[in-house]
Formats: sequence, structure tokens, C-alpha cells
Amino acid sequence: MTDNDSYRHKRDPHYIKAKKEGYRARSAYKLLNIHKRFKIFKRAFYILDIGSAPGSWLQVAKQYAERNMEKNNDSHYSRDHFKIMGADLKHISPIEGVKVVRVDFRNPEFKDQISEFFNNKKLDLILSDASIKKSGNHFSDHIQQIKLCYKVLDIAKRFLRVEGNLVIKLFQGPDMKVIKEDLKKYFRFVKVYKPKASKNKSNEIYVICLKKI
Ligand SMILES: C[S@@+](CC[C@H](N)C(=O)[O-])C[C@H]1O[C@@H](n2cnc3c(N)ncnc32)[C@H](O)[C@@H]1O
Repeated sequence: MTDNDSYRHKRDPHYIKAKKEGYRARSAYKLLNIHKRFKIFKRAFYILDIGSAPGSWLQVAKQYAERNMEKNNDSHYSRDHFKIMGADLKHISPIEGVKVVRVDFRNPEFKDQISEFFNNKKLDLILSDASIKKSGNHFSDHIQQIKLCYKVLDIAKRFLRVEGNLVIKLFQGPDMKVIKEDLKKYFRFVKVYKPKASKNKSNEIYVICLKKI
């Protein structure tokens, strides 16, 4: 980040709001925008967040999981506890009641960690804000990010419950159509969405996949 970028970042309204509301990053508002529009946290108790550092999505996930425990104590699908796991290459400072692991999520050992933590139970929601290290070449970044997304899809295919939801970050580009079509094979509803809190100059976009088949 240049000095100018850093100055602009600190004046960013979402950055200021995040500081005030105790979120670790302004990205929290992207996830809140996504939930407001798609209700992804509805009855979500078992949640996996891939690419979690510094942890603002984990903070949001925990808030909704706690709320779900109070709200959804009825005869429909519900659980009497929640489990949330966050994974990142980088260190994530602890969050009470949330399991964090430092791992490359593409490593086979990560699948064992998921099975063990969730006791071989299926998950309600998988989030991925994981992003490749950008090279500056838009096309190659777009392709590399798509490859990362297919790895997330592999995890969702194995661990997400039927009717479960998935959110994945992409960088816009020509192959978005391809991955969107692939995701449609596994989810009843697939929608590309740019949250308000995502900066206009950023080409990031989220694919919201609802109701796993
Ligand atoms: C945009 S940040 C996530 C921000 C997070 N959602 C939050 O709100 O605090 C993207 C993260 O993806 C992580 N990441 C990228 N590739 C990864 C991989 N293969 N395994 C684990 N984490 C990865 C990066 O280390 C980075 O911390």
C-alpha cells in the first residue's frame, strides 16, 4: 500500500465503521450485505470460513450462529449448539468459541481437520473470501482465482449438507460463466453479486450458491 492508499483507506467509511463496531476488517460489511440480500445465515449452525484472516467474517458468522440458537429453537431444522471453523495461511487471532487453523486449505490434511472438528457432521454454510496473491495481470489473476474456487467447491461437495449454502469470491473475467454453470450442477440457485461494501475499483465479485442439491 502506498502512503496515498493508506490515507484513503483510513478515510473509507466502512473502515471507520469497522473500527467503531469492533470488526477486524471492513470486509465484515460485504458479508453483512450478502446476508441482507440472500439470508445465507438462516438456520446456519455449522459454519466453515475459508481464507479467514484477520477474522471479520468469523466475527459476523459467530453473531448469526448465536442469534440462530436463540431464534430457531423449534421443530424445524435446528441444533442446540454451533460450531465455526476458520482457516487461513496466516495467523488468525483467537475468537472465543471459534476454532481457527493455520493451513493451506488445498492440503489434504485440511479435510481431516474439518471431519474431526465437525465430528463427521455435514455443514450448513461454507464461506470463502480466500483470494490468491494478485499479480496485477487481470486475466491471469482471474484464472488463478477460479482454480482456487474449484478447490473450495471440492470441499463443499463433500462437506456441505443438502440445502446448505456456499459463498465464494471471484475476480471478474471471461471464465465466470464457466464456473457459474458448474456451480449450477450442485446448487438450486446461483447468483453473482457485488456487495455495496466492495470497492467499485475492485474487480472482486461473490457467487452466492443457495440450496445444495
Ligand atoms: C481477503 S482476505 C480474507 C478476509 C476475511 N474474510 C475477513 O473478513 O477478515 C483473504 C485471505 O485468504 C487467504 N488465503 C488465500 N489462499 C489461501 C489458501 N490456499 N489457504 C488458506 N488461506 C488462503 C489469505 O491468506 C487471506 O488472508
